[in-house]
Formats: sequence, C-alpha cells, structure tokens
Amino acid sequence: MKYSKITGVGHYVPENVVTNFDLEKHMDTSDEWIRERTGIEERRFFNPDKDTVGNMSAKASRMALERAGVDVKDVDFIVFATITPDYFFPGSGVIMQRELGLQGIGALDIRNACSGFIYGLSVADQYIKTGMYKNILVIGAEIQSSALELTTRGRNVSVIFGDGAGAVLVQPTDEKNKGILSTHLHADGDFAEELYVKDPGSSRKVRLDNEILEGTSIRAHMNGNMVFKHAIVRFSEVINEALQANNLTKEDIDLLIPHQANLRISNFLQEKLQLEEGKVYNNIMRYGNTTAASIPIAFSEAWQEGKIKEGNLICLAAFGSGFTWASSLIRW
Ligand code: UT7
Repeated sequence: MKYSKITGVGHYVPENVVTNFDLEKHMDTSDEWIRERTGIEERRFFNPDKDTVGNMSAKASRMALERAGVDVKDVDFIVFATITPDYFFPGSGVIMQRELGLQGIGALDIRNACSGFIYGLSVADQYIKTGMYKNILVIGAEIQSSALELTTRGRNVSVIFGDGAGAVLVQPTDEKNKGILSTHLHADGDFAEELYVKDPGSSRKVRLDNEILEGTSIRAHMNGNMVFKHAIVRFSEVINEALQANNLTKEDIDLLIPHQANLRISNFLQEKLQLEEGKVYNNIMRYGNTTAASIPIAFSEAWQEGKIKEGNLICLAAFGSGFTWASSLIRW
C-alpha cells in the first residue's frame, strides 16, 4: 500500500501591491474599518499585461517542483482549483499544462472556491494511494481583482479579495504515518446563494445580455454575517473531525493553516483550540482572501519561513462558497 506525501510547495503573487489607503481613493471605506473587520492591510492585484491564472500557477508549480527536486517532465497529473479560470471553458488546468509543456497528461479542474485546494488534495491523495499517478501537481490560483466592483456599492466584497497562486507536489511514500494522514470534505448546497456569482450562469434563458452586464449579478454576492457565523462553526467541526479520525488531539497540532478569509476567524479558531502563539499561520494581512490559492500560498510561505519542520503535524482547514468546508492533517 502506498501513502501520499507533499514533497514540494510553491507560490507566486503579482507584484502590484494595493493598500487599504489605495482603496480609500475609490470608495467610502477606511484602512481602520478594513483592518479591524478583516485584518487585511494590503493585497496583490494582477498586471493584465503579464499575469494570468495559467502562468501564475505555472510559476508556483515550478517553485514546488524545484523544492522537491523533481523535473517538470515527470509530472503525470494536474489537479487545478480555481473559480476564476482564464476562460469560461476550458478550465485552467490545461492552460497551466501548456505553460509547463506537459501536453498529454490529464488535467482536472475543481470549482469548490475556498475549499477547492483541500478538495484537490484529497483527489491527489486517492490517485497516489491507488498507484494511478506518482507526481501530481495540486494548484490553487485566482485572479479576483478584475471582477471586483471598486465602488462604495461593492465595498463589502471588494476590500476582501486578492490575487495569487500556490502549488504543491504530491508523491507516493511507503511510510504509513508520514504525509497526508486524511482529508475530510463537506458541502451544503442549501446555502449556495449566500456567497456566489450568479451570472453568466446557465440558469437563465439568455445567459448574457446588456441588462445582465449592467447589473450586479455578475459580481460576487456575499451575505458576510451569515458566512462568518457558519464559517466559525464548520471550521471547528472539520478540524475536530480530522483529529478524531487520526486519534489525535488539538495539543498535537504544530501548525494550523486555515483558509485566509478573515483574521477574526483565524483568531477565533486559535482561541477555541487553545493553540499557542505562532501555531496558526496567517498572511491575510498581506494578500487578502485569495480563495483557492490562500492555503497553498500560506503553506509555501510557512515552509520557507522555517515554520514547518520534519515530523510536524500540519492541519489545513477551509470554508467557503457552496457552502463547502474541508480539512486535512499532514505529518511532515
Ligand atoms: O472566503 C470565503 C468565506 N468568506 C468569509 O468567511 C467572509 C466572512 N464574513 C466576513 O468576513 C465579514 O462578514 C465581513 C468582513 C465581510 C464584513 O464584516 P462585518 O463585521 O460582518 O460587517 P457588516 O457586513 O455587518 O457591515 C457593517 C457595516 C455596515 O454598515 P451599517 O449597515 O452598519 O451602517 C456596512 O455597510 O459596515 C459597512 N461596510 C463597510 N464600511 C466601510 C461594509 N463594507 C464596508 C467597507 N468599508 N469596506
């Protein structure tokens, strides 16, 4: 029996830094409001002449491969999580595949928003365990900024999101208690419309017309309060589920990497799980919420800052649109 292990982590964020003060110029908001309610100080917005979801994720993947010491030609499958693909279709897995010169291997796209990366990791975990593939890239990448409404009308959503890409390489190992110990996936479609972009969806007679383009249904709609309340419950539940499944306790966690949705959510989890200072990794201050990219970017940064050491127990957890929520425990 094979087990699966993350052997390389990488990320790429656009160079363009947008501070809360920059946003103040476009809408009735303030640095103080954004920092107090979300913890965000700045985020990255893509350069339309340079950055795409496909090429940012190729850069993140190359970094992950280099750190793993694996040649790009040895990658045999791609799992790509994004809700902002380069095109309406096909998905961005094939775009990144082309960027990496990997034509021919399979590329699977995942649309589970903030939980997309952990959903993707679970797919890779199963393929590695069955022996189907040996070098799987799992990506989370988003360009949110080009669809944000940078006006007072759109401020409850537009101050939160940012752009970026993260990647991990998943490989087989014979060691039972190393690598991905488990993944846990959940969804509840009753709440689909609490955080969604309605158009251009196929539910209408005409998918896109001028009336739709001029309205707000092409923008993300978020019932922030409701999402927040569900998030703190589901995050806690799914972390405990992962611990119980592995006969571990919260004291065993060395580093929790939660999806970066709101610093208040991370702080709530830290308190609830009674995790010491430094045991929850946050970078939302610098990048905002990058949806599917947030966990792999944070993973890569935590690793390069030396916060992930041999034998450490890492917990990943996410909650977002769907609603979907997920967790994974990893022994490094
Ligand atoms: O990643 C996917 C999962 N997403 C999440 O987990 C997000 C969860 N939700 C949240 O993080 C929070 O709900 C937000 C940060 C989005 C909003 O914070 P909040 O404390 O829930 O604020 P609110 O929506 O209740 O708004 C409070 C006030 C309102 O004004 P009134 O009605 O009290 O006069 C808003 O109009 O703040 C106003 N407001 C703003 N003011 C300045 C909303 N957005 C802004 C803004 N700047 N950007």
